[in-house]
Amino acid sequence: MAETITITDDRTGKTVTVPITDGIFPATAVRELDPNLFIYDPAFMQTASCKSAITYLDGEAGVLRYRGYPIEQLAAKSTYLEVAYLLLNGELPNPQQLSTWTDEVVHHTFIHENMRKRFVDGFHYDAHPMGMLVSSMAALGTFYNDAKDIDDKGSRDKQIMRLIAKMPTLAAMCYRFSLGLPFVYPDNNLSFPANFLNMMWKVGDYEIDPRLERAMDVLFILHADHEQNCGTTAMRVVGSSHADPYSAAAAAAAALYGPAHGGANESAVRMLTEIGSMDNVPAFLEEVRSGRGTRLMGFGHRVYKNFDPRATLIKQTAYDVFEVTGKNPLLDIALKLEETALADPYFIDHKLYPNVDFYSGLIYQALGFPVAMFTVLFAIPRTVGWLAHWQELLADKDQRISRPRQMYVGPDARDYVPMTAR
Ligand code: ACO
Repeated sequence: MAETITITDDRTGKTVTVPITDGIFPATAVRELDPNLFIYDPAFMQTASCKSAITYLDGEAGVLRYRGYPIEQLAAKSTYLEVAYLLLNGELPNPQQLSTWTDEVVHHTFIHENMRKRFVDGFHYDAHPMGMLVSSMAALGTFYNDAKDIDDKGSRDKQIMRLIAKMPTLAAMCYRFSLGLPFVYPDNNLSFPANFLNMMWKVGDYEIDPRLERAMDVLFILHADHEQNCGTTAMRVVGSSHADPYSAAAAAAAALYGPAHGGANESAVRMLTEIGSMDNVPAFLEEVRSGRGTRLMGFGHRVYKNFDPRATLIKQTAYDVFEVTGKNPLLDIALKLEETALADPYFIDHKLYPNVDFYSGLIYQALGFPVAMFTVLFAIPRTVGWLAHWQELLADKDQRISRPRQMYVGPDARDYVPMTAR
């Protein structure tokens, strides 16, 4: 029997019955009851803002799938560029499609010289790389006037490919600027992750260890999409006004910058550094439990209430990386924190488990990335997720400009008081 929900407006006695599909019913039920009736839902806790066929997430069961494919299989067998194709097109590419797509991406990694010479070089020497990246992404759009042509599929595809291809270049450019190092031009003969590592680290005869190249690719896969998270919602909200994809992606990256979202990996490493030793773990957790506002960074998730499957895969990747780089000294503190927290009633009762950011920072640090670069490393692969959602949004006939309502709690109408009477 089909599931339905019946809502009655006690003020009028009017009743509306609508279907429930996969635990969701349409808000049109509320509109039907009374067009001036609204749902108060801060932070969209109970709101499904769109239909999406991109990523499936079951927070209770700890399941994450891209276009139906389990994240564990993609992390073990695929590459970031193949996953990017999958997210954007809905199906895995055949060999010819993958070869064409890879060729297109690697041949669009270069960035206009003015971006570097006049824009990135204009930042203050100690600018945060994520701040630089957010503004550079928006600035990049000004180099492509066809970016405004969002109704044209050819133009959309071109901007998507450009953004994916140029994100590692922008990221490495911002990093090297902050160190005062000369820019390393992309090398189209390298794989996507190897090209990024090369642009970041190349000095003299730099050679990329294939195990680190693979680890980077796995991290890119794991961060590629995560349905309607804060950054993706920003992408969709800005995209709904028909802004160009560079501006919308810059807004998404700005959302990612926050410490409650992608900035958490940076906060997690800073937290581990401050804790300083395994002996200090109990006192730190006591502080978290005290409710004075200290949070265990890299723990907890709005949707995952059992475990974050990405955290499990990232922990495995961490050990692969440490085999090459040597163990990150913060690992022992992290393991002790995890073990103690997972057995602690506060964390059990609040359903708090390690999320994707708990171990990713340790890997980035072992790879040599400074803490300030961590969110940049998240933004590079998440760009494809943002763009897949942007594409889906534009094709969705149900969507209109995002424009929620509010519950006004300010003063009633009152007369202006002249300065002399105040
Ligand atoms: N440490 C301690 N307590 C926590 C934590 C944490 N990391 N996370 C949540 N809680 C507690 C809250 O204090 C609250 O307790 P209360 O009900 O007793 O007041 C309860 O759990 C619910 O917390 P909310 O903030 O309401 O949960 P929400 O779903 O809104 O937040 C979030 C999710 C932001 C991820 C939160 O768990 C958090 O701040 N975690 C730390 C930051 C972090 O790791 N962010 C990365 C998330 S993954 C990503 O964005 C890629």
